[in-house]
Amino acid sequence: MTDTAALKRDNAQFLWHPMAHPKAMKQSKPDIIARGEGCWVWDVDGHKLLDGVAGLWSSNLGHSCREVRDAIVAQLDELPFFNTFRGTTHPRAIELSRALVELMQPDGVAAVMFSNGGSDAVEGALKLARQYHKLRGDKDRVKFIAMRQGYHGVHFGGMSVNGNSNFRRPYEPLLPGVFHIDSPWLYRNAYTADEAELGRIVAGQLEREIAFQGADTVAAFIAEPIQGAGGVIVPPANFWPLVREICDKHGVLLIADEVVTGFGRGGAMFGTRLWNVKADLWCLAKGISSGYIPLGATAVSQKVADVFDADSSGAGAITHGYTYSAHPVAAAAAIATIKLLVERDIPGHVARVAPAFQQRLRGLVKRHAFVGDVRGRGLMLGIEMVADQATRSTLPKSSDIPARLAKAAYRRGLMVRVSGANLILSPPLVISESELDFLCGTLEAAFDEVAAS
Ligand SMILES: Cc1ncc(COP(=O)(O)O)c(C=O)c1O
Repeated sequence: MTDTAALKRDNAQFLWHPMAHPKAMKQSKPDIIARGEGCWVWDVDGHKLLDGVAGLWSSNLGHSCREVRDAIVAQLDELPFFNTFRGTTHPRAIELSRALVELMQPDGVAAVMFSNGGSDAVEGALKLARQYHKLRGDKDRVKFIAMRQGYHGVHFGGMSVNGNSNFRRPYEPLLPGVFHIDSPWLYRNAYTADEAELGRIVAGQLEREIAFQGADTVAAFIAEPIQGAGGVIVPPANFWPLVREICDKHGVLLIADEVVTGFGRGGAMFGTRLWNVKADLWCLAKGISSGYIPLGATAVSQKVADVFDADSSGAGAITHGYTYSAHPVAAAAAIATIKLLVERDIPGHVARVAPAFQQRLRGLVKRHAFVGDVRGRGLMLGIEMVADQATRSTLPKSSDIPARLAKAAYRRGLMVRVSGANLILSPPLVISESELDFLCGTLEAAFDEVAAS
């Protein structure tokens, strides 16, 4: 048996994949990605692919960033691990916290709390929100409001605020006291085709839900600045400013889940900056270390930090955290990543190259009747397939069109991601214009191929 065949056999036998039925992974074998360089990866059979998904919204600096690699190696030589519980810390944790607070100074961030990934960052934010209110004497403020189509990871807190029942049903019952409003989704909503009106309507839902629950029982509203896994749903421009106003009016904290949008993906360093809004807590992961090593962080605004700082009862102790919070090797990778993001103005690069990319792929709607909507911002883009373009009727779950498109793209040298009826693209942020041209051309050819068959 060849090495490749043995790897495929062992994968099917021994590995349970996230978000997949173990049986399905035996029948339809996953692609085995063995090597990466720049924006490209090679599978175990030597097939070269443009990485249209940046690992998983993560490898923002590409797969062979020397500076991040060197920082990791140097850290392994210096101190591979130490913890940051209570009485100890280490230089990389301190340097990274300072770098992040400086980076997020325009957003009003005062401090950061580290973890191992996005789900952790969400868990930390939800817990800090409740603790903040308890410290202020608002002991009943324990509920959370979130949006349908939202994705906030897989821990019990994050899963409970998730807005997609696929992730919820197998593990119910979830956290009590969590309520959902609609997503401000222009392509699919029951209200209006007018963006500004939609922003007002959905923000109005938030305010009504707060009133219905009783403002004095609501701890926080959590949302992604652009919904990613839910299908790349970009909210109307007025939505986040209205949400900020409503949260302020009712004493509700605003948690921005920036796990995908943080560190440049939308064309601004943080997604909230796209909407000129400052959150109270931010969830960070993925691009924070450009995917080189797992790391998550919950960033804390001055407003929240002040309440913890003012506490002298002891109730403000953070009885939360992980063995690997601020792991030195991950922290070293993140310090190097942030330095490069700033020095090379990666968000500026995204803002420059993304409009042509977005515009070109929007052309797929005109070319193919099975494409309903192409939407996105910066280097995140979703292509939604439909059964009927005129009525926008959804693609039947049994349809193999998205999978066939992904396979056709793969054969031609492009990795894309299938999520329900959507293809999702999120290439590394360092992608060049000629690589984006290759991405678009390859995808167009894959669509033509599937349309012809
Ligand atoms: C917005 C958002 N929040 C949280 C998460 C969870 O992150 P992780 O998979 O690192 O736990 C994700 C993952 O894709 C995400 O997109």
